[in-house]
Amino acid sequence: MDYKAFIEEQVNELKETVGDATAINALSGGVDSSVVTVLAHRALGRQLKTYFIDSALMRQGEPQRVVDMFAKMGIPVGLVDAKAEFLAALKGLTDPEEKRHAVTDTFYARVFGRLVKETDATFLLHGTILTDIEETVAGIKRQHNILEQLGIDPKEAYGYAVLEPLKTLRKDGVREVARVLNLPPDITERIPFPGPALAARIVGEVTEERLKTVRSATAIVEEELGNSGAFQYLAVLLNDKATGIRDGKRQFGEIVVVRCIESTDARTATVTELPWTKLHRLCERITQIDGVNRCLYDLTPKPPATVEYI
Ligand code: XMP
Repeated sequence: MDYKAFIEEQVNELKETVGDATAINALSGGVDSSVVTVLAHRALGRQLKTYFIDSALMRQGEPQRVVDMFAKMGIPVGLVDAKAEFLAALKGLTDPEEKRHAVTDTFYARVFGRLVKETDATFLLHGTILTDIEETVAGIKRQHNILEQLGIDPKEAYGYAVLEPLKTLRKDGVREVARVLNLPPDITERIPFPGPALAARIVGEVTEERLKTVRSATAIVEEELGNSGAFQYLAVLLNDKATGIRDGKRQFGEIVVVRCIESTDARTATVTELPWTKLHRLCERITQIDGVNRCLYDLTPKPPATVEYI
């Protein structure tokens, strides 16, 4: 495929479709939304309003890191603090689907919907890719970013029309486009990260304190396994506790699971055979996190497990 031609085509089409109107998009820092942002910025310049929504569910330092990265490319990104709103929506929820629904709903119907109205945007850009559409149609995944495929008319539901410039590409195609667009390796080679963010890695209630724990564990896992070449690696906080010993006293502490997998498309996955020294190091560092006294390595392939825990 001629990716240069693809870029040119999409830029022209966006220009034509949006005309003098305002378009809006949410940037997560993942490869899909990053490519959409760069394409749309080329096509629309100041008519594009890009926002990073801080949902309180992102990784350590992630919101500012993404905003700074785009500022370096000359693309302004508004940082929206919606932490309190997301935490309030998740309060008391333990059911995985209810938690996912709360995140999706807060994102689109509340925070993003409000931004759309404030900016007078009539076009919403989305990083939907071909695989998202296929998996949603097949009923494998309830991808939150393809409202239309789910039979929800976004114009009717939230007052805007959706443009999906990447909907003919798969992930490898998007990464190729990202490279041609000269996006930094931080983006082009980034491991997958789920839409519900760290909420997908907390079994049970999502609270500020529990987010802090899983965020610290995630930072350690990403640091230790960044060179592993694995497809994806993550940390999960369980809803159970276990007895341990801390400073010579019994402590009923948190349990963190480390997951590291090999896969090509995340539809199936096998577990990475990490060296014991690496596993010990992970355990040592993770059990230094406040309140955590156990660290487990998940040996389950997909299927029967999924990659994420909710
Ligand atoms: P599961 O847990 O379904 O994950 O085996 C498969 C792959 O998809 C990612 N994932 C998501 N990505 N929105 C996304 O954009 C989501 O809601 C979502 N849930 C899971 C997961 O990280 C893995 O790479």
